Amino acid sequence: MTRMIIEGGRRLEGRVRVSGAKNAVLPILAASTLASSGLSTIDDVPDLLDVAHMMDTVAAIGATVRRANGSVRINAESIWSTEPPYDLVRRMRASFVVAGPLLSRFGTATIALPGGCNIGPRPVDLHIKGFEAMGATASIDSGAVRLQAPKEGLHGARIYLDIPSVGATQNIMMAACLANGQTIIENAAKEPENVDLANYLNAMGAHVRGAGTDTIRIDGVKSMHGANHTVIPDRIEAGTFLLAGAVIGNGVYVENAVSEHIMSLIAKLEEAGAKIEDHVSGIRVWPVERGRLRNLDVKTHYYPAYPTDLQAQMVAGLTTAFGTSTISETVFENRFMHVAELQRMGAEIHIEGRTAIINGTERLSGATVTATDLRAGAALVIAGLMAEGQTEVLGLHHIDRGYDNLVGKLQSLGARIRRVDDDDEGTARALLKRTGSM
Ligand code: EPZ
Repeated sequence: MTRMIIEGGRRLEGRVRVSGAKNAVLPILAASTLASSGLSTIDDVPDLLDVAHMMDTVAAIGATVRRANGSVRINAESIWSTEPPYDLVRRMRASFVVAGPLLSRFGTATIALPGGCNIGPRPVDLHIKGFEAMGATASIDSGAVRLQAPKEGLHGARIYLDIPSVGATQNIMMAACLANGQTIIENAAKEPENVDLANYLNAMGAHVRGAGTDTIRIDGVKSMHGANHTVIPDRIEAGTFLLAGAVIGNGVYVENAVSEHIMSLIAKLEEAGAKIEDHVSGIRVWPVERGRLRNLDVKTHYYPAYPTDLQAQMVAGLTTAFGTSTISETVFENRFMHVAELQRMGAEIHIEGRTAIINGTERLSGATVTATDLRAGAALVIAGLMAEGQTEVLGLHHIDRGYDNLVGKLQSLGARIRRVDDDDEGTARALLKRTGSM
């Protein structure tokens, strides 16, 4: 089994560059299937399990997909299927956003319903509500949703989202690109990743206005073509490094971070006593005195409020804060599974409803802990860097879904962290034994 081994207590120093945003590149790869001609080149694509998964999904329906260093080249002219493999789609919720592009371009799509996710039930009712408003029929058949547009194609509609769902906004926006007439999405998700998606769609010849606001207008066009696009930096990765730098760093500089995308985190870190310098090419964070944040009350909510994807990392940072802190998780029902793992390290946290109450302790102590989702994994790594002694983090596949070379980046900041694959370690010992130097 592969695990991370962290020797805590060393301060992080130096510069680290964040990769392209996972949650932008995933819908962008899905959107590339809208192009009936021409090549798309997407730059600054992170090397992540989820990205490989989405590349496999669009390749499986006939697109040609090639990764060349940090770029992905896609030609969607040759797509011959609107039914991506059930197992591929079911395994990653984000794959569901291939529904909108395929329905819009081909008039039909059969997409596996997303599997249960360990951060709470995550339905797709708002996605389907949007497709039906544009004239599609939807039926559930053997775990997949079968979508069928009218023979004359989808038509524009005014759609109100009960929840500003990121995925539903993306799926409906893409379905509307080749529909007849104008679609208006109200109470749309305003995340920067959706703005990035809209910019790529417009480069492909779509007509999308208002992305990043509550109301998005899409005027359907006849066809779309490939386009070049550079993905925005990953604001959640940037926030993860800034948080680590605030508690265990000494002037860490996060290159390529965009402060406008994480104003809520920056405000909270300054409230907790950290000093943030906003530079043209990145952000520097100076730690609070003695590495202990001042206590905070944090509430996650939809963008631009404090992001749920930085909740676990903030819980970790507040475990050694002065006084009592609270973090309320309003987006997902079950996103505190990292708390039990942090308690193994001496954190004093209890949950009341959807709020974690954290009594700050002097320090954490290293332990063997297991990641339960990708952001929980990042939180455990931060805790391991903060703790006294050695921490082992298991469940690395969660971390590899969303962090490109996290160990290498932290090592470049001076962290004593390494990945060990028990098989490798076993092999190395056997080799050493055989050569007599064991
Ligand atoms: C996106 O997920 C992100 N994933 C998540 O990041 C992020 O936590 C989430 O948005 C919220 O910001 C990607 O972009 C790939 P939602 P998504 O639809 O689109 C409910 C990470 O760590 N809902 O905004 O699935 C849903 O149950 C991941 O990178 C409905 O009820 O999130 C949830 O409670 C984790 N019906 C809430 O809305 C629907 O039809 C927000 O979900 C759709 C959603």
